Amino acid sequence: MRMTIFGSGYVGLVTGACMAEMGNHVVCYDIDEEKIARLNEGDIPIYEPGLESYIARNTEAGRLEFTTDVKKAVDHGLFQFIAVGTPPDEDGSADLKHVLAVARSIGENMEEYRVVVDKSTVPVGTADKVEAEIAASLEKRGKSVEFDVVSNPEFLKEGAAIGDFMKPDRIIVGTNNPRTTELLRTLYEPFNRNHDRLISMDVRSAELTKYAANAMLATKISFMNELANLAERFGADIENVRVGIGSDPRIGYHFIYPGCGYGGSCFPKDVQALARSASDVGFPAVLLNAVEDVNKRQKQVLFDKIHRHYHGDLSGKTVALWGLAFKPNTDDMREASSRDLMEALWEAGATVRAYDAEARDEARRIYGERGDLVLCDSQDEALEGADCLAIVTEWREFRSPDFESLKAALADAVIFDGRNLYDPTQVQHYGFTYYGIGRGDFIQRSDDA
Ligand SMILES: NC(=O)c1ccc[n+]([C@@H]2O[C@H](COP(=O)([O-])OP(=O)(O)OC[C@H]3O[C@@H](n4cnc5c(N)ncnc54)[C@H](O)[C@@H]3O)[C@@H](O)[C@H]2O)c1
Repeated sequence: MRMTIFGSGYVGLVTGACMAEMGNHVVCYDIDEEKIARLNEGDIPIYEPGLESYIARNTEAGRLEFTTDVKKAVDHGLFQFIAVGTPPDEDGSADLKHVLAVARSIGENMEEYRVVVDKSTVPVGTADKVEAEIAASLEKRGKSVEFDVVSNPEFLKEGAAIGDFMKPDRIIVGTNNPRTTELLRTLYEPFNRNHDRLISMDVRSAELTKYAANAMLATKISFMNELANLAERFGADIENVRVGIGSDPRIGYHFIYPGCGYGGSCFPKDVQALARSASDVGFPAVLLNAVEDVNKRQKQVLFDKIHRHYHGDLSGKTVALWGLAFKPNTDDMREASSRDLMEALWEAGATVRAYDAEARDEARRIYGERGDLVLCDSQDEALEGADCLAIVTEWREFRSPDFESLKAALADAVIFDGRNLYDPTQVQHYGFTYYGIGRGDFIQRSDDA
């Protein structure tokens, strides 16, 4: 089938590559000319495991193309996917300017029936706005062309996006028109061979389903972080509590890891946007606001531990930082906890020596060259001349370091572990002072020392 994807970011590229992999003819369109030029040269602008080979194979086969020609894009696909960003506006609501710009482009260029599929995460009611925008553009042209608007929110996880797209847990199709459900069912058929994963519903419920999923996951994390802070004060170990509650099948082990806060391009903005939409309809979303507040506070926890350890004086200190991306297996630093930590450390007069296998270029793009940030090529290089070590991303390579050489490299044998990667007893055995998240007695012991 022929499809066009507007937006060649994490979602657009993965959708395009996976749809092409199934034999569809896909055109990816973006307004970012540099991005499209790089893609046309085979240079993939983001890091996502497996994506490069999918793109190479399918461009080679002529099933995947990249363009900045909007007319070509609209002419190409029966399906017009919208996968552009929906960043937070100043008041926390989702900014729909990119989504509506795409709708306008479609309306300005459409000559025959099109199914407009919204994959971007958008507030309830956006499909109506997209429909109105296309209709207005058509009217301006004096054209009458049929089209349908469908909500098909995306649930892929960065770092595992190809697997998630190829074997989705569910495919949500929100439409008020059965004809479009059938068209989407045909398009998604190859992803449904094992069993039918397509769930069809009305448009508004589909739009809300995406926010509900992200808000639920963010709630689980903030709940555990709240409990971790309590565990610290009670002298309990949250990791024991985690294992204890996860064994209850009603709770389960997924997504209950305590840490130094959630980041990324989705949870923070989606929780905020849903809370904002709630207040717009006169309903104060008490729980959602609390989830967000807990997370903001949690992103400061690691800095507070470092600050307290050094008795409030960090000027001239050098902190080795392992991890910059908001989670492993991605280069995405949007809303990453590393940013809160680094910015607080700089404010306090410290220097950061950071290492991340994939996010170094992104950090350089965000912060530029500055004297208090050294971007290193290896874990060991980050330790050179550092006073202590902080960990904010649970990349696999950080899990089993050589603690002897780690201790020898640091001026002070102290680890601030924002992801609870290590066994406190083991690291203390090597002579470290260890700060995890929610592992209270160890903090008290080191404070006493
Ligand atoms: N990243 C994720 O893990 C993820 C997962 C599920 C859903 N989502 C949602 O999907 C949407 C896209 O997210 P992303 O992470 O891929 O964003 P992204 O920022 O990586 O990519 C967005 C792309 O859209 C392009 N763009 C902006 N305006 C455009 C226009 N008028 N026409 C064509 N292209 C345009 C930008 O240049 C950019 O390349 C968001 O709504 C996000 O919430 C993201």
